[in-house]
Amino acid sequence: MRTVIRNGTVVNADGRVEADVVIEGSLIVEVVARGRENINADVEIDAAGMYVIPGGVDPHVHLELDTGTTVSSDSFATGTIAAAHGGTTTIIDFAEQRIGGSVARSFADRMAQADGNCAIDWSLHQVLGGVDAQALIDARNLLQEGISSIKLFTAYPGRLYSDDGQILRALQMCADTGMMAMVHAENGLAIDVLIEQAVQRGQVDPIFHSLTRPPELEAEAVHRVGVLSRVAGGAPLYIVHLSSTEALDEVVAARSKGTNIFAETCPQYLYLNLEDHLGRGWPEGAGYICSTPLRSKLATHAEDLWAGLRRDDLAVVSTDHCPFCIREQKITVGTTAFNQVPNGIGGIEHRMDLMYQGVVTGNISLERWVELCCTAPAKLFGLQSRKGSIAAGADADIVIYDPKGTTTISSKTHHMNLDYSAYEGITVEGAVNQVLLRGNTIVRNGQFIGDATGGRFVRRELSNVIR
Ligand code: URP
Ligand code: ZN
Ligand code: ZN
Repeated sequence: MRTVIRNGTVVNADGRVEADVVIEGSLIVEVVARGRENINADVEIDAAGMYVIPGGVDPHVHLELDTGTTVSSDSFATGTIAAAHGGTTTIIDFAEQRIGGSVARSFADRMAQADGNCAIDWSLHQVLGGVDAQALIDARNLLQEGISSIKLFTAYPGRLYSDDGQILRALQMCADTGMMAMVHAENGLAIDVLIEQAVQRGQVDPIFHSLTRPPELEAEAVHRVGVLSRVAGGAPLYIVHLSSTEALDEVVAARSKGTNIFAETCPQYLYLNLEDHLGRGWPEGAGYICSTPLRSKLATHAEDLWAGLRRDDLAVVSTDHCPFCIREQKITVGTTAFNQVPNGIGGIEHRMDLMYQGVVTGNISLERWVELCCTAPAKLFGLQSRKGSIAAGADADIVIYDPKGTTTISSKTHHMNLDYSAYEGITVEGAVNQVLLRGNTIVRNGQFIGDATGGRFVRRELSNVIR
């Protein structure tokens, strides 16, 4: 079957062009500059007045995440359908090895959980929560399965935390293989002291979640893993959910020393803050408890993060989608303090719209929007030959985006399985008009019309971006 998307403005990371996109089966076969006649097709899609952009790639989501006390509220089914509505056609979730557990088993179990249950294409990163010799052998072997990234934590002692020696060994493995090491960078040992002291003082409201995780402890961990990456011989390093000016400064400093370091931020750090959101107290404030935490609007974190996105000191915008309903998950009968609330914010559906708002406000260019949300995550996580660009030979994952539309975000209308929206009532200019996954329309006129089980596991190569 041959499809042509006519009359749109095709936007890639490196520029925009008035062109028609020709699709055969699941692949883009040609991008034809406007004016050429005689493109015959079985299906015609009119994109006049619209942007034609690559499907979004969200490289950091947690669907059906089992925290030990609860499970994140979006399943692979509900989360991927919500993502599709928002113009995301590929996600990367996580397989999670815990201390004492087997990497190989955690990977096999998570593959079985996701397989056949996704509406869009997907892959996994491998979390190493207990770095030892066998875990490193198993992680290295995952390259043969099409998995080219691991994740480490300097936070959450006793659960997922790795000490500096464990991190160094894992980074040495990454320097050797070229695998990307993602790191949740906060000084978890120091944070646990601050949490204990705050709770003892009776400082238990949601706002203390952020006040016990100060920016300095994020920056310190970013600095430390940057040093360890260099000592390891240039391990590819990717800092997740970077939230503060101080941490960003450490990324910039590390880059100036030639560190092979990249970082992402998330819409919550650009649009939400400590005072207006965490500061709402119980129960609403609990909906804004996530780690790294929301930062104070009295400092310049959000504007510095926007500048980092413009300058490419921040390479990617992911969601870190990790939804928990306020009723019965964030807050249960026994909840008395912020440190009992599961961490996470849901946003898988709204990343493309919230970041397009950055184009409207002049914070980023149209091309940079595509680069941050589609092209760079594809390149950094080894999807570059199939995802993240409108180009001949790529999968026909395409979003037709209406710059004249508007989107009002609300839990009453969103598709996530979540009883609130962190962005409730925000209206953004721009709207997803149509979404194609490998040549098939899966969203049209706000309706999911695809196959709820049509998402495929995508094997990933090594990243082709090295600093
Ligand atoms: O609060 C968050 N981000 N929860 C998800 C797990 C993580 O640390 O990314
Ligand atoms: Zn994290
Ligand atoms: Zn996360």
